[in-house]
Amino acid sequence: MLMRKKLCSSELILLCHLLLATVVCSKHHGNPANDLVEIINQNRTAQKLPKLNDSPGLGCMALQYVELCKTNCSGNSAVNCKPPDDDFTEVFAPNCGVELPTLGTITGHIVGCQSKYTDPPLAFSNILVKDKKTLSLLTNKSHSEVGVGLVGFHKGPFFWCVLFSNGKTNSTFVLEDRGQGIKQKKGCYSGSSFPCNAGERTVVFLPYIIILSCFIISLLNQL
Ligand SMILES: *[C@@H]1O[C@H](CO)[C@@H](O)[C@H](O)[C@H]1NC(C)=O
Ligand SMILES: *[C@@H]1O[C@H](CO)[C@@H](O)[C@H](O)[C@H]1NC(C)=O
Ligand SMILES: *[C@@H]1O[C@H](CO)[C@@H](O)[C@H](O)[C@H]1NC(C)=O
Ligand SMILES: *[C@@H]1O[C@H](CO)[C@@H](O)[C@H](O)[C@H]1NC(C)=O
Repeated sequence: MLMRKKLCSSELILLCHLLLATVVCSKHHGNPANDLVEIINQNRTAQKLPKLNDSPGLGCMALQYVELCKTNCSGNSAVNCKPPDDDFTEVFAPNCGVELPTLGTITGHIVGCQSKYTDPPLAFSNILVKDKKTLSLLTNKSHSEVGVGLVGFHKGPFFWCVLFSNGKTNSTFVLEDRGQGIKQKKGCYSGSSFPCNAGERTVVFLPYIIILSCFIISLLNQL
């Protein structure tokens, strides 16, 4: 009986280690905005369309876009928000440190929100590209660049934004300071050189909660 209990607790500890490794790995794996760009490109190349260049400047502006729309999440993952066109040049670009002469044309955008964080593949199919209209936007031949921004608000919804542009690779939406841009306090954007702060408290605390539960479980098993 004692033997069995010991075995069980060591198995539990192993399980906890595995769980912890998964959490730590997925955290270091990094930026869900980059993952979404990859998913977008996979979808395009599967339809024989060229890959889009991941533009950090455009990604940062996508994050600015959802910052502005944070109170406008309506039901069914739609964002009821229409920032004035001038906001791209007058608000988003300066806030990101995008050099104004390098600003390109936005050829499309997709915005979506949900009550909580969803993994990028599900965000793609359930929030962002869930109908014919958005799929045809995604596969438009005019695009050459893409940027993704995402952020979650405390107790509020989680937003994703994809911006497309027809700009020339590497010469549009250039960020000042050799691509550093202006540091975002919250959220993630694709191509960013800063670590991603998903803006979700739970994402940050999850590893600690798991360590604590593992510790308690193993303590209880030793009684
Ligand atoms: C967000 O929604 C409010 C209320 O419906 C509306 O007045 C406002 O214009 C919206 N914001 C944007 C940027 O569209
Ligand atoms: C593709 O995007 C461009 C620029 O936004 C637009 O003018 C054009 O109508 C779109 N094409 C299709 C097939 O939707
Ligand atoms: C592209 O994404 C759409 C929307 O999620 C999906 O219906 C379609 O099967 C995808 N196409 C490919 C080739 O993966
Ligand atoms: C754009 O910049 C990236 C990274 O610096 C580089 O790998 C890529 O070759 C460049 N693309 C073009 C078309 O200049």
